[in-house]
Amino acid sequence: MKPKVLVTRMIPHSGIELLETCCEVEVNAEDRPLTRAELLDRVRDKAGVLGLMADRIDGEFFDAAPHLRGYANYAVGYDNIDVPEATKRRIPVANTPGVLTDATAELAWALLFAVARRVVELDQIMRSGQWSGWGPMQFLGADVCGKTLGIVGAGRIGTAMALMSKGFRMPVLYTNASGRRNEVLEKELGACLVSLEELLERSDYVSLHAPLTPQSRHLFNANTLARMKKTAILINTSRGPLIKEDDLVHALKTGQLSGAGLDVYEFEPRMAEGLAALPNTVLLPHVGSATETTRTNMAILAARNLLAMLRNERPETCLNPEVLAQG
Ligand code: GLV
Repeated sequence: MKPKVLVTRMIPHSGIELLETCCEVEVNAEDRPLTRAELLDRVRDKAGVLGLMADRIDGEFFDAAPHLRGYANYAVGYDNIDVPEATKRRIPVANTPGVLTDATAELAWALLFAVARRVVELDQIMRSGQWSGWGPMQFLGADVCGKTLGIVGAGRIGTAMALMSKGFRMPVLYTNASGRRNEVLEKELGACLVSLEELLERSDYVSLHAPLTPQSRHLFNANTLARMKKTAILINTSRGPLIKEDDLVHALKTGQLSGAGLDVYEFEPRMAEGLAALPNTVLLPHVGSATETTRTNMAILAARNLLAMLRNERPETCLNPEVLAQG
């Protein structure tokens, strides 16, 4: 008998096809996340689950899934998974690092340029017929070439974003929660590992690439935002709760900060009051990995991970490989 698996929301078909080679696959065919009650109900008889970052994978979830042999996250960020709880129960869990690195780094650059050169605001001016012709004092933005780029969290995506700055001749500063030096960035760009305070004080562009952890939650708040240059632009393509969004709105409104490009929000899909009305922001609906190829590659990797777990093998990108090593 084929093991039963649940895919909590429709993903690119290549992933489903791969699962169907060995499993009985149930897919949430509705284009919305499952409610908590639906999720807990539908995992009861499943050996494997392929889920999204909106699905909370914790003790209650594992209690509801007594036959579970593996959980594959369709995301690189895994703040939705209680990994120690999975490990305690000896259930392997996996995420999708690597395949979405370039797409997310590219989106950070799209936001950076869009904010610096006011692309969305000015597009609106053109579309609404308000432009009366060229003027020397109109629509001035900020330079990028030669400006200092600060990378908060120089992991895979932060490193890729920084490496893409090469053509723009930007001095690069970076922080790492581990305090470890990033040899690639130092060798390729002469980048410097600095404290967060120094990065905030010296950077013209600050791009966030850290995972959401208890330490990184609200790393950007009234105090840290006040340390940034008034001309600086903040970019976030990582996780919304890294920024206390009300404090960001205040900083942007009062000119403490020049602009922000956000792909993620503290309380998705909601945005903080006042954010949408600010012209010095560019706001995207969490689309860092949203290219055809990347989403397909994520589906294939997540499916391969789940199939490996169902065979009691170590998935390619396991978050708790010690569970299988003990086996
Ligand atoms: C998206 O946010 C991801 O973590 O993959």
